[in-house]
Amino acid sequence: MTTTPSRPIRLDALAYGGDYNPDQWPEEVWVEDARLMREAGVNLVSLPVFSWPRIEKTQGTYDFDWLDRVINLLWEHGIKVDLATATATPPAWLIREHPEILPHNVHGQRLEFGSRQAYCPSSPVFRSHALRLTEAMAVRYAEHPALALWHISNEYGDHVPRCWCPVSGAHFRRWLESRYGDIDGLNEAWGTSCWGQHYLSFDHIEPPRTSMGPINPSQLLDFERFGSDALLELFQSEIDVLRRVTPDIPVTTNFMSLFKELDYWDFAAVEDVVTDDAYPDPGDPLAHVPAALNYGLMRSLKSGQPWLLLEQAPSAVSWRDVNVPKAPGRMRLDSYQAIAHGSDGAMFFQWRQARFGPEKFHSAMLGHRGEKSRTFAETAALGAELKKIDAVRGSRVSARVALVVDWDSWWGSSANDSLPSQRLDWLEQARAWHGALFALGQTVDVVKAGGGFESPFARYDVVVVPNLYVVTQEQAEALTSFVEGGGHLVVGPFSGVVDPTEKIHPGGAPGPLRNLLGVEVDEWWPLADGDTGAITLAGSDHEIETWSEWIDVADSAEVVATYSTGVLDGRAAIVRNASGAGAAWYLSAALRENGLEAVLGQILDAASVDRRQHPNRLLEVVTRVGDDESFTFFLNHGADEILVQAPAAAVDLLCGADIPIGADIRLPGFGVAVLAHRTLDLTPTSL
Ligand code: GLA
Repeated sequence: MTTTPSRPIRLDALAYGGDYNPDQWPEEVWVEDARLMREAGVNLVSLPVFSWPRIEKTQGTYDFDWLDRVINLLWEHGIKVDLATATATPPAWLIREHPEILPHNVHGQRLEFGSRQAYCPSSPVFRSHALRLTEAMAVRYAEHPALALWHISNEYGDHVPRCWCPVSGAHFRRWLESRYGDIDGLNEAWGTSCWGQHYLSFDHIEPPRTSMGPINPSQLLDFERFGSDALLELFQSEIDVLRRVTPDIPVTTNFMSLFKELDYWDFAAVEDVVTDDAYPDPGDPLAHVPAALNYGLMRSLKSGQPWLLLEQAPSAVSWRDVNVPKAPGRMRLDSYQAIAHGSDGAMFFQWRQARFGPEKFHSAMLGHRGEKSRTFAETAALGAELKKIDAVRGSRVSARVALVVDWDSWWGSSANDSLPSQRLDWLEQARAWHGALFALGQTVDVVKAGGGFESPFARYDVVVVPNLYVVTQEQAEALTSFVEGGGHLVVGPFSGVVDPTEKIHPGGAPGPLRNLLGVEVDEWWPLADGDTGAITLAGSDHEIETWSEWIDVADSAEVVATYSTGVLDGRAAIVRNASGAGAAWYLSAALRENGLEAVLGQILDAASVDRRQHPNRLLEVVTRVGDDESFTFFLNHGADEILVQAPAAAVDLLCGADIPIGADIRLPGFGVAVLAHRTLDLTPTSL
């Protein structure tokens, strides 16, 4: 089963390459770069991401000659370009002419030029200059045969996800007016009768800058939505220009994995291809586990279509407190992990390691020692090897389990300081749940909370919802019909709490999920800092931390686990409620890893989804299903050898050997195997 986006990247191989900043180097170096890129198997480079001042030297005076020379040189060497619109950072001349472009922080202070992304997302001045440059770039390179993909801006929201300046204030007011129609609608939605917050006019509303005390949570949630939408609007405005001038060229902007500030469901909907920048920390031996969740999101943003890892580090980054390099083999393994999860290629930041600027200590495909650098040797080896697995292009990842990611709930449950506890962290919970599923051998897709469109849940056996703080009636209905149709649903604590205006659902949590889950929350019972508790599940105790709840259970529901400590001792902790052909589980506590593995293992069993009996976080097995054959990736994320068995008669694509069914495959530390075989019903227990 292969899929192609309507406008696919114009490349007929897995993408391999990285960001290239030729304007940091004298021209003779470009020639060496092109030669070495070809030697390393590079076929795509991203440029010129931060070159606005070099292209537009003063307003309307363009210098494309140097860029023409670079692109032509690359093309002569068989390398295509992921062409940046170069609008990621406005030039100093523009800022000095229009200082109002500069963004303001939450305290109302203007941020000064001196780094990158020096613009307010709502600035019409910035936008008109950026669109002029976008158009000039599009016109200049529309017909260039090297143009494979448009790279709009760069990592929207990385440094300036929100702006609190007067221009943003006016934009926020317009956004609110179109959402609520009139000021009475806003007063009702925001519950402004609390704390005397009533507004007479939209003109009286400001973005939520630092205030004297807790800010209205409805205002905060709307500001999060607005902030994401403001950047989306900017993205859309560049897309509009590119679609007009180059209607056949695909567009993308590089995402930042699971990034709180932007609702990537909305961003992915308007672009052709999802691309991601992922920087798992080599200092963390389990960094590949959250990476798998990020990649699950990336492939799911466009319903399973292939995506592209556009940036990763060949070795160390330069922006952590301590920047641990990647051990030999790790860069290869990380690249295969992304490809296993549906990326049609592996790209890096950056091609040649910088000699100056904030990223001079950031590794690159070609290190400071040039051809002699270890990263170059590994880069060239991987570039050659990837050619052997080209058949995986376009195939789709197979998954029976999906995890719900909902930005409203992420923002609502953590973007304000008026909550039962600040310790229940949305991302930590999502990662913990996913981590347990990973250990149980599951490949996990990500789904939207549903409602209002075709059910996204139907193709899964199990859907897990670590948190759905904000829930609508429609979403509850979509989850209910999934369960009634035979699905298995697991919902985590502090879900079903508020409606989209931040009002507690009538009768309390879990609001419209009450009948489905068979519980009512009487009180949230967060644990004091440093305290832990326990629940008893099937005769074993499992530790809880941070969060528990006093829940009442409907007659229809079955208590699966009870609290075994503290005030809640003996009360229900986990509840199962059968409904139609399926069942819904409610977990009222924040469980640690082993508890989550025990609960989710039981639910996978109930759903007849095969799983590992002995959880393992170091071996990952992912299958991509193509039209005629499937590809199973075995990834050893640990330093010690692992032995696995071939699930079917297969060809080992990396060594070319025929492998009989059941044969041992030796995976050395950080080792990888990619088997091509007929499509089977592969199960994690058989792997
Ligand atoms: C991000 C940016 C790049 C570069 C890398 C460094 O991904 O998009 O320009 O700064 O980080 O890790």
